[in-house]
Amino acid sequence: METRFKSIGIAGSGFYVPKKVLTNFDLEKIVDTTDNWIRTRTGVRERRIADDNEATSDLAVKAARKALEDARISPQEINLIIVATLSPDYLFPSTACLVQDKLGIKDAWAFDIEAACSAFIYALSVAEAFIKSDTCKTALVIGAEVFSRIVNWKDRNTCVLMGDGAGAVVLREVENGKGILSTHLGADGSRAHLLKQPAGGSRLPATEETVRQGLHYFKMQGNEVFKLAVRIMSESVITALKKGSLSNKDIDLIIPHQANIRILNAMAKKLSLPMEKFMVNLDKYGNTTAASIPIALDEASKQGRIKEGDIVVLVAFGAGLTWGATVIRW
Ligand code: ACO
Repeated sequence: METRFKSIGIAGSGFYVPKKVLTNFDLEKIVDTTDNWIRTRTGVRERRIADDNEATSDLAVKAARKALEDARISPQEINLIIVATLSPDYLFPSTACLVQDKLGIKDAWAFDIEAACSAFIYALSVAEAFIKSDTCKTALVIGAEVFSRIVNWKDRNTCVLMGDGAGAVVLREVENGKGILSTHLGADGSRAHLLKQPAGGSRLPATEETVRQGLHYFKMQGNEVFKLAVRIMSESVITALKKGSLSNKDIDLIIPHQANIRILNAMAKKLSLPMEKFMVNLDKYGNTTAASIPIALDEASKQGRIKEGDIVVLVAFGAGLTWGATVIRW
């Protein structure tokens, strides 16, 4: 039997962020913080916040429509939908099923992936494997979050970091030698306590008491996470490049998870790369969790920062712990 090596790549991308802008100066009126602290410690200047009537699937659908348009394909050509999110509309049904319905797609299967900030890279890898194995032909991979709903707006340690948004890509077979060259994924559940939403699951179901104690909000040991993020994301980039028989000298653009500019500065040092090789947009959107990489990817592509044949590396790190890096020839 003849086996044919397939190259799987991004055929189109799009993103959507809510209209409402929340600046650092707005936050000064809500918690004990300053624009100067937030800018110098994180790099964030402002973030977008979803309207009361907007949920994650609404953002996801708007990003998906743009990605479909960019790929010049009709929704009916999609046969797999994966939504990467940790702020789904509901615990079930999945946000991916809601997106399928809103886009009017009939012949597709759909599910969510929860791997926090690394979820888009996990989802990309899963979709790639399904297309490679002929289980499906064209996948819609979306990272979407309305994280503002699980942020404690009285906690200055976390509320200044996060934002809402969605990014999407269409994944399908591309010209041989282009597309995804290699991926490295990892997880470490022994560090699950570092970032979590303690209540609302089967361990601690939501009660009046859990709500009173604010246990349904996102909690993080930021300092510890910071150090791990720098080391693990840098190592992931190198491991993924090695798998693709490449080195850091081959990188044209890194599109990292947009958590903190100081994390990216430290990574640039570790990888001996200039900051110009890093796509940065966290100043405008903050940390949009699973949406951060597809938003940054679409912005980079539309700004002309990626040329045909370029080596682009996506890299993320988040709760779980989870991490991942993907090397793409554009
Ligand atoms: N405004 C003013 N002061 C603040 C604020 C604020 N918004 N937040 C914290 N501080 C204070 C602290 O209370 C502390 O004060 P103290 O020294 O009197 O105790 C001081 O600033 C320093 O606090 P640190 O936590 O040590 O500050 P740090 O420099 O580590 O910055 C931050 C905190 C921004 C959270 C950083 O640690 C970080 O970015 N961590 C990584 C986040 C990340 O990558 N998360 C992963 C993805 S999220 C996900 O997976 C869902």
